[in-house]
Order: sequence, then C-alpha cells, then structure tokens
Amino acid sequence: MVNMKSREFPMTDANFDHIKNMAYDRTGIVLGDHKREMVYSRLARRCRALGVHDFDQYIHVLENRESDELSHFVNSITTNLTSFFRERHHFEFLEETVLPEVFKANSASKRVRIWSAGCSTGEEPYSIAITLARFLKNNLVRYKGWDVKILATDLDSNVLAKGKRGIYPNSGADGLSKSDRLEFFDESGQGNDHQLMAKDKIRNLITFNRLNLLHKWPMKGQFDVIFCRNVVIYFDKETQKVLFDRYANVLKDPGYLMIGHSENLHRVSTRFNALGHTRYKKIN
Ligand SMILES: C[S@@+](CC[C@H](N)C(=O)[O-])C[C@H]1O[C@@H](n2cnc3c(N)ncnc32)[C@H](O)[C@@H]1O
Repeated sequence: MVNMKSREFPMTDANFDHIKNMAYDRTGIVLGDHKREMVYSRLARRCRALGVHDFDQYIHVLENRESDELSHFVNSITTNLTSFFRERHHFEFLEETVLPEVFKANSASKRVRIWSAGCSTGEEPYSIAITLARFLKNNLVRYKGWDVKILATDLDSNVLAKGKRGIYPNSGADGLSKSDRLEFFDESGQGNDHQLMAKDKIRNLITFNRLNLLHKWPMKGQFDVIFCRNVVIYFDKETQKVLFDRYANVLKDPGYLMIGHSENLHRVSTRFNALGHTRYKKIN
C-alpha cells in the first residue's frame, strides 16, 4: 500500500475513516479500503483548489458549515460513467413492451411519467426521451396531446448541469445511431469540436432536478417506469432495501423498474417480479 503520510497531501487512517463515514452518511456511497487511492486522487484536487496542506485541514474546511465544500466533496466522490443507450435491451423493452402497456393503462389520465434516478450527465434520460419521442411519433393519432414527462435526478450538481445543457462531444456519442443523431440532435463543429446538441423535441420532455435519493422526495405523483441503473452498486444492502421499497411505493400498477447490469433485487426486495435482464415489474 502507498504510504499516505508521505504524499503531497498527507492522509492518515483516521482521515480516511472520517471521509468514508461522511460519504456514507451524506450519499449512501460505501467507500471500501480498496477505494482509498481513488478517494485520495479525487480529493487531492480539492486540497489543491483550496490551498490546504493535508487532510486534517481539508476535513476542517469540509466540516465548516460556512464553506460550500460539501457539495464539491459529494461531486468528487460520485462515479458518473454513463453513455447513450447503455444496456440497449432496456430501451428496446421500453419501446416494445412497457410503453404500449403503460399508455393503454393510462388512457383516462392521458399522463405518463418516467424517472431516471441517478441520471448522471443525461445520456440515460435523453435515451429514454428518444425512445418516447419515437413511440409517440409512431402512435401520433392515438396519443396526441398526452402529458408525457421524464424526471431526471442526480445528487451531483456538476453532472446535472451537463445534462441540462444537453450538449455532448461527438466522440462520446457512440450509442446514438445515425438516424437518431439526425432526428434528435443539431450538430456543430468538426474534429475535437464536433458537438451534438439535443433538439427541443427531446429536451422538452425532460426536467432535471438535484435530488439525493436518501433524502425526502418532493415529487407528488407516481411513476410508470423508473430507471435506477448503476447507482445502487455503490450502496450497501440496507440502503438498497429502503430505496427499492420506496421505489415500489411510488410506482403505479403496472409499474416497471430497470436496474444496472451488475445489480439485482435478490434479498433486497420482494415487491418486484424479475422479468430477466435486470428488468422488473412491480407486484405490490
Ligand atoms: C454510474 S452513474 C449511472 C448513470 C446512469 N444511470 C447509467 O446507468 O448510465 C451513478 C450516478 O448515481 C449518482 N448517485 C450516487 N449516489 C446518489 C444519491 N445518494 N442520490 C442521487 N444520486 C446518486 C451519481 O452522482 C452518479 O451520477
């Protein structure tokens, strides 16, 4: 193990434990000892920015109620990896099975709500929006005038700001087909400056809001579908149990849940039926 005391910003075991506990209490994220190097390098940037000399000083700033370091801390410890149409089978299932069933079930209210919980920089909610827009276009006569919205939330304010902007480097947009690019994005620049800007027809379907999943949820209505993918992998089982129980409470009937490829609800929740491929339907 690297000697953390002789580094640019000395970090003692007690400092790491303090940071670990703070991360768990504030975000639910479990930082095991194997994450120590990662935590060091991410927070070393914060030490440099603040001009502090070691982690004793850093923690002092973090604990100071007057400082806004807590949000930088939270933004630093989250892992935000995402991409357009990541785990594509979820979007095919959404288009072919979930949306037809949900739209049929909501014919009285003419309202559909989808939640991307832990949306990171927005590629997930934009992929949902593209799927929805395509579905609506194919069923224009039947569903014209329906109130259809996607709520996209994350704890990390930096990634949310990127999602709200809706501008992505072309180099990171491999998951988008040629026809999706043409139909749903405006393109500008070339080479390294080649960018894709989400068009209003998908942008207007999404509302981005900051939300800590561990805190109280301000949303009043219920959801037809929840995507919470590659988020709970960082949580312990106890936190997952509470969270999936809350998801079941805010899902309608029929209500669907998509989780990440390495996640499952075994010994976490009995309130969902597993449909295979990390897709679930609420039972009760
Ligand atoms: C790896 S990304 C997953 C992005 C997307 N769902 C996907 O699968 O591509 C995990 C996201 O969960 C967010 N997150 C972690 N803990 C959270 C919490 N307590 N409340 C809300 N979001 C959280 C992180 O900020 C991060 O953006």
